[in-house]
Amino acid sequence: MIDSSQFDATRDDRKTAALVAERLTVAPESRVVSSLAFARELLRGNATKQAGEEFLGDPAFTSVFFLDGEPHKRKRQAISRFFTPKVISTRYRAVMEQAADTLLAGLRTQGQGRLDQMSFELAVTVAATIVGLTESNQAAMAKHIQATLIALRVPTMSRWRRPVGQLQATLSGLRFMLCDVQPAIKARRAQRREDVISHLLDEGYPDRAIFVECITYAVAGMITTREFIVMAAWHLLGNDTLRERFLASTEADQIVTLEEIMRLDPVVNILNRRVTADTLTSSGSVTEGEKLVFDIRAANVDEASVGACPYALDPDRARRVKTTGSYLSFGDGGHRCPGAQVALNETRVFLDRLLRVPGIRLHREPDLCWTDVLMGYELRDAIVTCDPA
Ligand code: HEM
Repeated sequence: MIDSSQFDATRDDRKTAALVAERLTVAPESRVVSSLAFARELLRGNATKQAGEEFLGDPAFTSVFFLDGEPHKRKRQAISRFFTPKVISTRYRAVMEQAADTLLAGLRTQGQGRLDQMSFELAVTVAATIVGLTESNQAAMAKHIQATLIALRVPTMSRWRRPVGQLQATLSGLRFMLCDVQPAIKARRAQRREDVISHLLDEGYPDRAIFVECITYAVAGMITTREFIVMAAWHLLGNDTLRERFLASTEADQIVTLEEIMRLDPVVNILNRRVTADTLTSSGSVTEGEKLVFDIRAANVDEASVGACPYALDPDRARRVKTTGSYLSFGDGGHRCPGAQVALNETRVFLDRLLRVPGIRLHREPDLCWTDVLMGYELRDAIVTCDPA
């Protein structure tokens, strides 16, 4: 057990705090909620709804992300069977292990590898299994998805670059649809399986809506997990004590360490909501119509809830303050991330194997980049090296 008294009050293990302080922006008329207790009360209650009404079309075919109330509850219930602990430990675990072994065999053969490429291939393979995108080559699909997501950057491009970016995004989206999504739909039309696309077909979703759902999962499950795996590897490869402890821990304790890393460097920084009714909670009050920004990063270091030395990485913290170790990193309440355990487990499976590769070391630290569209960090070009196989 790490003794918290060993941390001095100024210790700060966060890798992205300075970048976020510089780049994170919130709409001026929004009210920022930084208290973990207040955030939890509001997100668990029903006085707020998702911001982003512009994305709301026919609720029958709208992504779960933008729904609220009964339609949201129904959709969450319908997809919950793809995220149970049993399904993760039986069906997806084998996929995680196999994908990690293949990637690490490649690393050992070449003696070096790029962490963000490996983590993206892994995240794509796992999320694709859940969604049902399994009829095409996974490495090629990772490239198609990566290219399609340029669409997220189009609004931030210069005026002359924007039409080119839009064209690239459209063509890449078409390629993803034709090469990956349509073959998956066709196979499931012929025979349903236990995955999201089969469920969407049962619900009568048209192909276009299925495509949109696949993109939602790409952003929600693949992009986020790619960044988190690199972040966790960066912390563990750079800290001998933490790494040794991680490798000697049980699987459950390894997850706790990953959650503590996520507490300090959360992939998702903010959640946007709108208040639907005047509400008084034990931590404060909100007024109908207010726009709220839940500051995940600030809530995760809220000393009142996470204890002393909030910026110090302390895997024993959650146990000591008797709380769930994920704090606000995966959201809370009705929209809390259904894929949280998938993400943590695949990160654990991959890193437990990566850190045991003979001679493994971080040859090049990642470049710390920022994406305005997702308001989050991106870690690029980290290189690990190992003894030749
Ligand atoms: C490290 C990885 C991940 C992080 C940090 C993350 C974070 C989050 C957060 C903060 C939310 C809440 C959004 C809100 O309240 O507005 C969320 C929702 C969601 N996540 Fe994740 N996520 C991760 C991985 C995954 C994975 C692997 C999947 C699926 C394969 C997934 C699927 C979803 C979905 C479908 C939602 C929408 C749920 C709803 O609105 O009811 N996520 N995620």
